[in-house]
Amino acid sequence: MSTSEHHFTTALTLSDHAIRASEQAIGFLMQQGVENADCISLAAGLVDERTLPVQLARNSLDSLLNDSPAGRRVLQYGTTPGPDELRQTIRQYLAELEGSSNQLAGLPAEQIVLTTGSQQLLLLATQALVNPGDICLVAAPTYFVYLGLLEAAGARIVPVRSDDHGMCPEDLEQTLDRLHQEGVLHRVRLVYTVSYYDNPSGISISADRRPKLLQAVQRWSKTHRILILEDAAYRELQYSGPILPSIWSFDETKEFVILAQTFSKSFSPGVRVGFGVLPADLVKPVCDLKGNADFGSAHLNQNLICHVLRTREYHDHVRLVTAGYKRKRDAMLDAADEYFKDIPGVSWVHPDGGMYVWMSLPTDICTGFLSPLFHRATQVEKVMYVPGELSYPSSWNHRPQNQMRLSFGVQNADGVREGIRRLANAVRHVISVSNAS
Ligand SMILES: Cc1ncc(COP(=O)(O)O)c(C=O)c1O
Repeated sequence: MSTSEHHFTTALTLSDHAIRASEQAIGFLMQQGVENADCISLAAGLVDERTLPVQLARNSLDSLLNDSPAGRRVLQYGTTPGPDELRQTIRQYLAELEGSSNQLAGLPAEQIVLTTGSQQLLLLATQALVNPGDICLVAAPTYFVYLGLLEAAGARIVPVRSDDHGMCPEDLEQTLDRLHQEGVLHRVRLVYTVSYYDNPSGISISADRRPKLLQAVQRWSKTHRILILEDAAYRELQYSGPILPSIWSFDETKEFVILAQTFSKSFSPGVRVGFGVLPADLVKPVCDLKGNADFGSAHLNQNLICHVLRTREYHDHVRLVTAGYKRKRDAMLDAADEYFKDIPGVSWVHPDGGMYVWMSLPTDICTGFLSPLFHRATQVEKVMYVPGELSYPSSWNHRPQNQMRLSFGVQNADGVREGIRRLANAVRHVISVSNAS
C-alpha cells in the first residue's frame, strides 16, 4: 500500500517548509518518466550510462584502499568542508579551467567547500542567504530544480530576460532599478544563473556579458551585498565554441559571486561530489548549515575525486566523455534539421556543450503535460520531452507554453535521431489538427 492510500489515525502536522516543498516539478516529471517507460526519453537529464568510469573508479578505489592505514583514513569521517588536499587540488584544477593560475594563486583553499553534489551547495547557499519573502532573480528559463528549492525557501522569484547570449545585463539593471523604485531592493539576495550550456536552454552567457552582470550586482549592492549564484554544472561538457572564463573569475575581491561546480556530469553523479567557491564571509555560515545536515559529504568519494584529479585520469576521462556527447549533440541537431525543416515556426538552440537542445514551436502549440502534443508524443509516437513551462517560475504570468527541453543525455545517437523523428511526427500531427479546426 502506498503512503497516499494509507489512513493514519492522527493527522501529521508538517512544517511550512515541507508544505512549500511538496509541489515540485521534478517529482511530477519523474512520475511521467515512470508512466511512460515505453517511450524514447528525450526528457531524462541523466548522464549517459556508457560514460560512467567503472574501470577507472575500481582501479582508483583499489589504490585508495591498498594498504590498511590509508584505507582506514578514507573510510573514517572527514571534515565538514572536505579534505584540505582535495580543496587545494580543486583550486589548481579551477586555475586550469580559467586558464589563469596566477590569478588563483591568492585564493585561499578554505573558500572551497565540498558538498553532496552541487545541489547541496545550491541549497546551503540559499538557506544561508534567503529568508521567506526575500527576492531572488533568476534567468528565464532556468533549472527547474532550483526553482523548486527557491519556492520551498519561500523566496519571491523574479525572472530576468535571457536571450541567445544568456541573461541580459540591461534587463538585470532594469529589474534591480524597478525593485529599488518599489522600495524592496533591500530584500534582493541572489541572482541565479547557469552560465555554461544552460539547463534547459543550452545557452552560455557570452564573454562580454559576464563582467557586465557582475558590475550590475556590484552597482546595486548599495546597502547590502547582492550575490550572483553562478551554477557551472555543465562547464566541462564543452564540444565547440570559445572557452569562457567564469563570471566568478571577474570578481577581483571574490565577494560577489558564488561559483557552484560538480563532478556529476563529467565523472559520475553516483559519487555525489560537488563544490562551491564562496565569498570568505559565507564559508562559515554554509559550513554551519552543512554541519547540521551531515558534517561532511562522503569522505571516500571525495578521496576518489582527489585521486583521479591528481593522476589526471579525470582529465583523460573528460575528453572521452565530451567526444561521446558531441556526437550525440550533432546527431540531435542533424536530425532536427532533417525532420523539422518542413514545419514552419519551429526553431532550436545550437548548444556548444551540455546535454540539452531547447526547441520553440509556433506560439499556439502548447507543450505542457496536459497538452495534445504531450499526449500524442507519449501515447502514439512513444517519445517524451520536458515541457518548457516547468523551467519558468510558476508565479510568472508570462510563461511561454510552446517550448521544450530535449536531452541527448541517455539515448545513443540512433535513439536521439529516432526520438527527434517521432517528435517531429507528433508536432506535425498537432499542427495539422489545429489548422483543420
Ligand atoms: C543546472 C544544474 N545545476 C545543478 C545540478 C545538480 O547536480 P549535482 O547535484 O549532481 O551536482 C544539476 C543536475 O542536473 C543541474 O542540471
